[in-house]
Amino acid sequence: MKRTILAAVSTAALLSSSAAYAGPEAEVLHWWTSGGEAKSVAVLQQEFADNGGTWTDMPVAGGGGDAAMTALRARVLSGNAPTAVQLKGPAIQEWYEEGVLADISAVAEAEGWADVLPASIAGHMKCEDIWCAAPVNVHRVDWIWANAQVLADNDIDMPTTWDEFNAAAQKLQAAGVIPLAHGGQAWQDATVFETVVLGLGGPDFYQQALVDLDPAALTSDTMVQVFDQMRTLRGFVDPNFSGRDWNLATAMVMNGEAAFQIMGDWAKGEFLAAGKTPGQDFLCASTPGDGFLYNVDSFAMFAVDGDDKQAGQQLLAKLIVGPSFQKVFNLNKGSIPARVDVALDEFDQCAHLSAKEMTSSSEGGSLLPSYAHGMALRGAQSGAITDVVTAHFNSDMSSADAVQMLADAVANSY
Ligand code: BGC
Repeated sequence: MKRTILAAVSTAALLSSSAAYAGPEAEVLHWWTSGGEAKSVAVLQQEFADNGGTWTDMPVAGGGGDAAMTALRARVLSGNAPTAVQLKGPAIQEWYEEGVLADISAVAEAEGWADVLPASIAGHMKCEDIWCAAPVNVHRVDWIWANAQVLADNDIDMPTTWDEFNAAAQKLQAAGVIPLAHGGQAWQDATVFETVVLGLGGPDFYQQALVDLDPAALTSDTMVQVFDQMRTLRGFVDPNFSGRDWNLATAMVMNGEAAFQIMGDWAKGEFLAAGKTPGQDFLCASTPGDGFLYNVDSFAMFAVDGDDKQAGQQLLAKLIVGPSFQKVFNLNKGSIPARVDVALDEFDQCAHLSAKEMTSSSEGGSLLPSYAHGMALRGAQSGAITDVVTAHFNSDMSSADAVQMLADAVANSY
């Protein structure tokens, strides 16, 4: 008798769950809200819809994702995690350790991700021995963007050393042009800072200081010079920079109000979305010095109940790493595909430079994770560094005090 009831109950449950199944659905938390970013994420929304999915958008404005991560924590703490979240670097493993991520190994294995992703990228997508995130792209952080006409009018070439950058900036300032478009938000200060660490210190120093957090590197003379250069850069920024969004800084370069911006290649997505042509309207070059700072966007799926949601997660993960999405999305986003087998013929010269230098720096041991974009360190450590960088940039703190504060903040962050 008992067995019959149980069988009846489970048949009814099956019927009702299959009757209720409405197809794959996903609630997607991301911070892609600027012009170029919105155009890029629309590519994924469209592919998801074309494959029968229903997308609920949860955009959280704020470059670099700080606000998105605050929103995520609130949702998870209230027991209502979004199904898919833009998440990257060690934060993926931090969330996995909290027991809230879904295992997407079945999709990864069926789609052969291990064969099409470079090992350095695949490593970020693994939690212990399972796949726990799907990579979207490779952004490069250490770029300078310039208005081609402004440089030509002032007889300036793209700088290849920080001294050249400073000399060009002084000349521009004398001519009444804002040398450096910058948004005064902590993550933007950190973005500039890490390119200066790489450029002045070199790849080994970057590794020691911002990946290994070696106290000797953090308090070195080289780090003092880095803060000196940050102070010099502060002098090239206009007085209204405080709180400005990064894409508004890009717009200043676009319209000729400013000459340069130091920003990852999501800035290229803004130029492209505005119809600008690289090499003609705007120029790209790596910031002075060797090396390549990478920033891989990825999505992690949070453990949720419901066939619709789980089907949505599987579909989303599959599409994200699929070759057609990787091409179209990255053409818009300014980045290059994470997959190694996507042809770059339709990509522009900046993307080609990125791909070439990613390969050469990987071979030369100078392919390095961006600390400012959450690829190198856990949140407590990267947050401690950024607090010091931004406190220095926004005050008259000496470089000597900044390095001491940096070493102390890192030591106290564990
Ligand atoms: C992300 C990019 C994004 C940028 C500005 C970075 O951390 O990786 O995808 O465009 O922040 O919001």
